Amino acid sequence: MIISFISQKGGVSRSTLARATAVELSRAGQQTLLADLDSQQQTSAKWAERRDHAGIHPAVETAVYRRHSVALKAASQYACLIIDTRPFVDISSFDIAQHSSLVVIATGTALDDLEPSLLLGRELLHRGIPLRKILYVICKAPTGAEARSAMQTISTWQFRCVKSYLRFKAGYSLALDAGQSVTETRWPSLNRHAENIIREICTRAEAVA
Ligand SMILES: Nc1ncnc2c1ncn2[C@@H]1O[C@H](COP(=O)(O)OP(=O)(O)OP(=O)(O)O)[C@@H](O)[C@H]1O
Ligand SMILES: [Mg+2]
Repeated sequence: MIISFISQKGGVSRSTLARATAVELSRAGQQTLLADLDSQQQTSAKWAERRDHAGIHPAVETAVYRRHSVALKAASQYACLIIDTRPFVDISSFDIAQHSSLVVIATGTALDDLEPSLLLGRELLHRGIPLRKILYVICKAPTGAEARSAMQTISTWQFRCVKSYLRFKAGYSLALDAGQSVTETRWPSLNRHAENIIREICTRAEAVA
């Protein structure tokens, strides 16, 4: 099973969702590789180093790839390959999407974020990715009202969106800094919201795989 996280814009929580998905699948006993394709920033790989250093369980196997084709080849050795892509979509993003069981598009709630995200979904459809393989997740929502309004816009465009959303909270960034995922913060309610998102992502991926 391959779950990829792509987006047109940077800083929308792609790596945040990829890391939490890898943690929860690893915790469930699935042999999982988190492939970091952002070879310049290496956000996921550096986070995994912090995690190892802090001795946090479960360990998340992570590798950095310059070429997406090499990352895709690793899929045969794992039950789950989680692909954290670079910001901005290029031809490699479409190839990754073609090979993915599920393509997750992280987006903010403001129109500046939402519009490029929805256009990306349309482009994926145009390139032959089936609608059922595209899943939106609202991230960094300032308020519940804004999250719900963004979800409404996404469904107006006929796309599927995860029902839970990630609020913008310092507790999440603090956890990431410490090598934890957004499902592992010190605040149970934050963890619950994040777990609901990851559960929906995994359920959807299994359903379409
Ligand atoms: N819900 C949240 N609340 C607060 N901070 C968050 C939240 N989600 C992510 N962050 C922080 O926002 C920053 C960007 O998150 P992340 O690296 O996941 O985004 P990205 O889309 O992968 O970015 P890039 O385009 O740089 O790869 C990080 O510093 C992260 O700690
Ligand atoms: Mg990233």
